[in-house]
Amino acid sequence: MASGAHPLEQQEPPPRLQIYSTSSAGVSPFWKEKYERDAKKYWDVFYKRHQDRFFKDRHYLDKEWGCYFSAAERQVILEVGCGVGNTIFPLVATYPEIFVYACDFSPRAIELVKTHKDFKETSVSAFVCDLTVDDLSKQIPPSSVDIITMIFVLSAVSPEKMPVVLQNVRKVLKPNGCVLFRDYANGDLAQERFTCKDQMISDNFYVRGDGTRAYYFADEFLTNLFKENGFDVQELDICCKQVENRSRELVMNRRWIQAVFHIADGAKSSSCIETAQEAAFLDQENVKPEVKKNVLDRVVNNSEIDISEGVAADMFGISPSSDNEIININLRDWTFKINVLSKEYQHTCRSTGLMLWESARFMASVLAANPTIVARKKVLELGCGCGGICSMVATKSCDLVVATDGDEYALELLTKNIKSNLKLPFLAKLTTKRLEWGNRDHIEASKGSE
Ligand SMILES: C[S@@+](CC[C@H](N)C(=O)[O-])C[C@H]1O[C@@H](n2cnc3c(N)ncnc32)[C@H](O)[C@@H]1O
Repeated sequence: MASGAHPLEQQEPPPRLQIYSTSSAGVSPFWKEKYERDAKKYWDVFYKRHQDRFFKDRHYLDKEWGCYFSAAERQVILEVGCGVGNTIFPLVATYPEIFVYACDFSPRAIELVKTHKDFKETSVSAFVCDLTVDDLSKQIPPSSVDIITMIFVLSAVSPEKMPVVLQNVRKVLKPNGCVLFRDYANGDLAQERFTCKDQMISDNFYVRGDGTRAYYFADEFLTNLFKENGFDVQELDICCKQVENRSRELVMNRRWIQAVFHIADGAKSSSCIETAQEAAFLDQENVKPEVKKNVLDRVVNNSEIDISEGVAADMFGISPSSDNEIININLRDWTFKINVLSKEYQHTCRSTGLMLWESARFMASVLAANPTIVARKKVLELGCGCGGICSMVATKSCDLVVATDGDEYALELLTKNIKSNLKLPFLAKLTTKRLEWGNRDHIEASKGSE
């Protein structure tokens, strides 16, 4: 220790807990961890909110991969991350002989599968399973499944845990079985939107407004991932399609990846080798016959695209205002109607500022009962949140109030709440500013409010 220095001056400052992300840094470690820990909860709330109305039935499996299915034998299928059954019910309708295991980590999704009008215990076994934690071979005999379908599910898993999922499903797949895979591809327009809105968790991995996550696969990443976990690539296509949204006058380039994998060194499913598409591909020079891999973009005009239904959520975010509720507050001579994120969704949002805290009610009641505390003063409210009731009450006796918060959504809602609850002359005394603590620019801008 340098002589004369105070011992406290030598200590490292305590690590700071970063709640709001700094711009362009993506999601903060605090929220990354929360999204991971609560992944199941976010999806379960998703199904509580959307029930079976979000995804369309996926009727393309037969068209895209019909040669892997057999109408004659009782094949065993496993659909992982089955959601409410948009993949399995069309499959069972096309191939009534198949038996389907369907699992998802959302108990609500599984309940919706079991109450589906076409659910029959003789052809579907639906159960709750977190693919990153629960051993599938406890529910399904090892090496007993002919086809595993992974339809927009691996993208919902963090890249660190994808290997666990693949090892888990591999255990129950027959040596000559295969995995049919479709999921988001790198470069999809929705990915660009996420990047702009700073919802990045890690490379190619993003969080939606409702807390569910999406990974965008590059063909090399996907190939290596499966290879490292005991699979070989049988087919791989990157598909792209322009989707038009007439009401918004938008043309969007959607990209997805479609692949078939089989167990490395296992007897690969040969039934599709003779398809016309494969034969055409094998005609090309320098292509190894065992892998049909088309990493050049395949522009699909007639292929059914099923990632359009999520466009609104992916592209435009889920607006906090669509899930709001009004709280009535009566404080002495004040009556407020405060718009907040509804209780049901409060745990799914990144900001703590979209709800009304008990502490705010208490502070507002103290100020309402004791207006002299802030009489003729300039008041700065830190972490005001969307409610703003303390700042609004303060306007009765103070000269000026600056209500600040670090979260843009909270500020947006705050501005609405102030406009709908406060009238002149009180309204003129209150301004709102974005203030992330420690951000010099924000601090200067807040000082300039006088
Ligand atoms: C986009 S949905 C796809 C649903 C379904 N495959 C279909 O074709 O409609 C993704 C599903 O994966 C499920 N999921 C995500 N992570 C999971 C995990 N670790 N274990 C099990 N299911 C998971 C979610 O609950 C959600 O239902």
